Amino acid sequence: MTPILMLGAGRMGGAILEGWARAGAFAGHDLMIVDPQPSDAALASARAGARLNPPDGDLASARTVILAVKPQKWLEAAGQYASWLSPDAVIISIAAGVGSQAIAHEFGGRTVARVMPTTAAAICQGVASLYADDPAALARAHALFEPLGAVVDLTDEAQIHMATAVSGSAPAYLYAFIESLEAAGVAVGLSAADASRLARSTITGAAALLAQTGEQPAELRRQVTSPNGTTEAAMNVLLGERGLPPLMREAVAAALRRSKELGA
Ligand SMILES: NC(=O)c1ccc[n+]([C@@H]2O[C@H](COP(=O)([O-])OP(=O)(O)OC[C@H]3O[C@@H](n4cnc5c(N)ncnc54)[C@H](OP(=O)(O)O)[C@@H]3O)[C@@H](O)[C@H]2O)c1
Repeated sequence: MTPILMLGAGRMGGAILEGWARAGAFAGHDLMIVDPQPSDAALASARAGARLNPPDGDLASARTVILAVKPQKWLEAAGQYASWLSPDAVIISIAAGVGSQAIAHEFGGRTVARVMPTTAAAICQGVASLYADDPAALARAHALFEPLGAVVDLTDEAQIHMATAVSGSAPAYLYAFIESLEAAGVAVGLSAADASRLARSTITGAAALLAQTGEQPAELRRQVTSPNGTTEAAMNVLLGERGLPPLMREAVAAALRRSKELGA
């Protein structure tokens, strides 16, 4: 499966490179990176032996190609590089919304797997949703993403849109939640520094507790919600008619719609 060629190594491609380095998943010399504006992670990989922006003729040695450019730029990247690749190179696309048939077509009929990763891949705590029609391509995607955290096999390609809305985009949902909690802390009179420390440490601690105990989130919520207490007062708002559940459904539906538009 090596050498691995990464086409585009920005935020997400860089997170994958960082995670692989942390996990010791691949030797530097097994990686090739093509990116006109290499991120810090790409430059660090190059220092560890990866070939950065090699001559086009070298791309034919890649057995696995990770398509990690923005969905708006994937066609341009395919046009630039497809003809240089080996006919048996497997394309692993992390581009949101773009379907495997279109990718296979633009990459000359090569086998394709689709993956929706998350940025915590950088610390090997990501989750990647995988889909491929071809079992060998799926196995390749497993080998690439298992070192970076959890993997979830989807049974239908259409579910990648759903995984994008519920997972790929979701780290931003949590960060937005923390930003809002910090702002609410300042609004009730805390200093910005205290609000930020309290909100961040509380949320990261609560997430770690969820991971370590393996309890259901609803159970952990019940454990910290006394009848008629302060938390219950807040929960009546957050879980109320105009609270988080309808808001989250709306947000996920908007991400799902956008994922479908990007692939259209
Ligand atoms: N970020 C996330 O949280 C996340 C999560 C899941 C999936 N994804 C998917 O990951 C993909 C990349 O997203 P991103 O956030 O990492 O984007 P990004 O930060 O913009 O990274 C893409 C990189 O590809 C480079 N690039 C553009 N055209 C290229 C070409 N023709 N050949 C080689 N490199 C090229 C870009 O350079 P320029 O800046 O010069 O254009 C940039 O450095 C997207 O398809 C997205 O759907 C992202």
